[in-house]
Amino acid sequence: MRYQLKPIFCRPWLLNGLSLKLIESHYENNYGGALRRLNAITEQLESLDFAKTPGYVLNGLKREELVALNSTLLHELYFASLGGEGKPTRTMADALARDFGSVDRWRSEFVAMGNALGGGSGWVLLVYVPRDRRLVNQFAAEHSQVLAGGIPLLALDMYEHAYHMDFGANVKAYVDAFMRNVDWKAVAERYEDALRVEPPRPLVQQEFGELPGVGVDEVKAMLDSGKPVQFIDARPRHYVSRTQDIIEGATWRDPERVHEWMGELSKSDPVVVFCVYGFHVGCRTAVALREAGFDAKYMKGGHSGWKAMGGPIRLQR
Ligand SMILES: [Fe+2]
Repeated sequence: MRYQLKPIFCRPWLLNGLSLKLIESHYENNYGGALRRLNAITEQLESLDFAKTPGYVLNGLKREELVALNSTLLHELYFASLGGEGKPTRTMADALARDFGSVDRWRSEFVAMGNALGGGSGWVLLVYVPRDRRLVNQFAAEHSQVLAGGIPLLALDMYEHAYHMDFGANVKAYVDAFMRNVDWKAVAERYEDALRVEPPRPLVQQEFGELPGVGVDEVKAMLDSGKPVQFIDARPRHYVSRTQDIIEGATWRDPERVHEWMGELSKSDPVVVFCVYGFHVGCRTAVALREAGFDAKYMKGGHSGWKAMGGPIRLQR
């Protein structure tokens, strides 16, 4: 398969402070070069007998394929990022303010990242991350470090070929010129498309239906705020006897004997119960408590999740 050339997206003659000669050279030599390399690598990969290809040959080609493909994609985004008047649309201004505190704060980070790459090379990208439904500025070296699962919306090319012809070593002037020319309407359209991408599917435990769960962070916040929470460690007896650590603030109760100890709990205060990973044992215990009229929830991720988030634990005597 051959990768197709994308026409230059911005109108180069309309850019303010970026010369036609610079943009043309960038598009023809650097974007075009990456695309031509990509097609040559693809052709070579298609001709390989993988069973007979040494690992180092395949490694080298796949690495070069990644660099060329990502360089192609990021250059297309770079040219599509230009051609506007540098003023964020209302939608983008709201989104930037939500995730960075203010548009100015976003801008100062993005610009500083570009300036910091002066003398080096790489990309500065504004990326939407569906998992967290938020925007983040990222640095990408080697054309190949785009955030996994992220969707780049705005790309600033900080390789020397992007500015040297017009600005020499004056990186700051180039970054300022780029910012003046950002096409925020196009960024907003890409953002609108990115918002339609669903986050990765959550863990579903169908057997427990609508049983409410709470995240580790939320539980920690409840405990830290001093709210009365009955925090129950319901890991199986055999498991607890093998390990030393117990979550700070939790009381261990044998999940096999829930009907014996539930009478000691208060029905007016919430109960959070967890097992090792947040699967069956904790959920079953929470179900038993709810059936008996307690306001019980299970903690998602369980004991392991708590430790993974760096929650405090203590050693059992
Ligand atoms: Fe470039």
